[in-house]
Amino acid sequence: MCGIVGYAGPQAQAPSSRPVDVALQGLARLEYRGYDSAGVAVIDDGSVRVTKRAGKLANLRAALEGGAETTGRVAIAHTRWATHGGPTNTNAHPHLGGRHGELAVVHNGIIENFAHLRAELEADGYAFTSETDSEAAAHLVAREMETAGDLTEAMRRAAASLEGAFTLLAVHQDAPDTVVAARRNSPLVVGLGEGENFLGSDVAAFVDSTKEALEIGQDQVVTVTADDVAIFDFEGHEVTDAKRYTIEWDAAAAQKGGYPSFMAKEIHEQASAVADTLLGRLEDGSLKLDEMDIDPSVLRSVDKIVVVACGTAANAGAVAKYAIEHWCRIPTEVELAHEFRYRDPVVTEKTLVVAISQSGETMDTLMAVRHAREQGAKVIAICNTRGSTIPRESDAALYLHVGPEIAVASTKAYLGQIAACYLLGLFLAQVRGNLYPDEIAALMGDLEQIPEQIQQVLDSSAQVEKLAQDMKDATSVLFLGRHVGYPTAMEGALKLKEIAYIHAEGFAAGELKHGPIALVEEGQPVFVIVPSPNGRHSLHSKVVSNIQEVRARGARTLVIAEEGDDAVLPYADEVIRVPATRTLFAALLTVIPLQIFSCELATAKGLDVDQPRNLAKSVTVE
Ligand code: F6R
Repeated sequence: MCGIVGYAGPQAQAPSSRPVDVALQGLARLEYRGYDSAGVAVIDDGSVRVTKRAGKLANLRAALEGGAETTGRVAIAHTRWATHGGPTNTNAHPHLGGRHGELAVVHNGIIENFAHLRAELEADGYAFTSETDSEAAAHLVAREMETAGDLTEAMRRAAASLEGAFTLLAVHQDAPDTVVAARRNSPLVVGLGEGENFLGSDVAAFVDSTKEALEIGQDQVVTVTADDVAIFDFEGHEVTDAKRYTIEWDAAAAQKGGYPSFMAKEIHEQASAVADTLLGRLEDGSLKLDEMDIDPSVLRSVDKIVVVACGTAANAGAVAKYAIEHWCRIPTEVELAHEFRYRDPVVTEKTLVVAISQSGETMDTLMAVRHAREQGAKVIAICNTRGSTIPRESDAALYLHVGPEIAVASTKAYLGQIAACYLLGLFLAQVRGNLYPDEIAALMGDLEQIPEQIQQVLDSSAQVEKLAQDMKDATSVLFLGRHVGYPTAMEGALKLKEIAYIHAEGFAAGELKHGPIALVEEGQPVFVIVPSPNGRHSLHSKVVSNIQEVRARGARTLVIAEEGDDAVLPYADEVIRVPATRTLFAALLTVIPLQIFSCELATAKGLDVDQPRNLAKSVTVE
């Protein structure tokens, strides 16, 4: 939520590596984090120069066309998801600070004491032009600079008096080689180049230029020049143990690679994504999750699991509940992180909290993690983004390894999250002795077949694509499922809402007769996710009955069923086939036609699939 870029480069620059161009390139990679406005600040001929525009990055590019030559060596830039103040040119970042605009700041997060600060700064003679909380931070750093005379110290003092969540980047005309940043509860990473250094909300900002990155911890200030990176805590002590790491994915992973959208590309990457999540986890028939550094005795003592997550990640968590309870017999709850955090949940030292987050930065989930740890629970993060806050603040982390997910609507991370949850469930069962080694090996064997089966679903996408094109004028679509088909139905509905702006609801099929069936009228499209007929017979037959119930009331039934399941044929207007697998593992297959359906339908409506309205990836505010 909001993308931030900083750059400090050498004095002599090739035209393509002017700070302004490097910053724009970084913004293009981060635009998925917010696209209400974009802006950049450079130091040009000894003064701070800001260019910013409401709307997408293209507007800023147009505004910079033919201008913005800079003799300077630094730039900061921002792509915004509006919180305080509408998406206008004035509210766009960077914000100038100081009595003469001698400093510029970009900000991600929410400054909770901004009203108080603003009143104080206005009384002190600082003029505000925007409605944002961020402008208060700009003037505050500028005021501290007047007395400190050093930008790092000014940022440190300012950051220490801010409340809320922030990543701040500042440039000042009196420190023309330097970008100074500070972070609390909001993401920031440093990219280490050769004679140039970078700052970004995430590594996508600079992965084109360097693979070497440095984690910036909570409540730290970092000063970056072309040749140096220095980190301090908010008390002014130098930090010498910042974690350095090498970024695993290459720049091509953050390109569309011939697909019309990132979402389409990421859907089609799902076979290899799940294969990568599973890669190297089985050794001599035994499950090894070495990166998840947690004492097995802790896992043996767990008497309850609470999965916390939001949105799509919460739907993955709902699948985890079915698997973990079935294999491990540990009571497992799934709760939206923001509800868990603020309702005084029962959490003890024997509770294992599993926090699922693709970005690792979702504020609601982070707050739930902190709350759980304060109550003495152990927390395992299931995450895609190395170096992000949630795994760092958890007791252990299990990574998805699915590569960067750029589209706002999550697809391949969802499958990676489910696969990682299966790994966690099987590992718990192994450690606690709930399953015999040969049972685990058999389950893993079937799981390892899934990437190939995903590919089969992807290879037969033409039918769903045609369906989506034909249904582009639909105004309401319902989704039904039981068991893991229920979270799949929820996820199918969420995808359609968020990218195609169509009213959609996912229901537990058994709940239908308790109310939602009243929605069904002639022609109402209803997707039904049918479990395997080779699993529990009663489960399968109950869903087949549910198809009949909605069809009898006029619904158009769009049935996702296993190959060879002929029981659905008499009641299905359309049958979409998926390969046969265990009931639990079907969650990795049956959702794919629903993802393709939403992506194709939104494309047919002419919508921006990757950047749906009002949304942003990485929701870093509560
Ligand atoms: C929907 C979607 C969101 C995220 C949610 C949590 O397609 O992507 O619902 O799943 O905002 O994000 P993470 O997983 O980054 O915590």
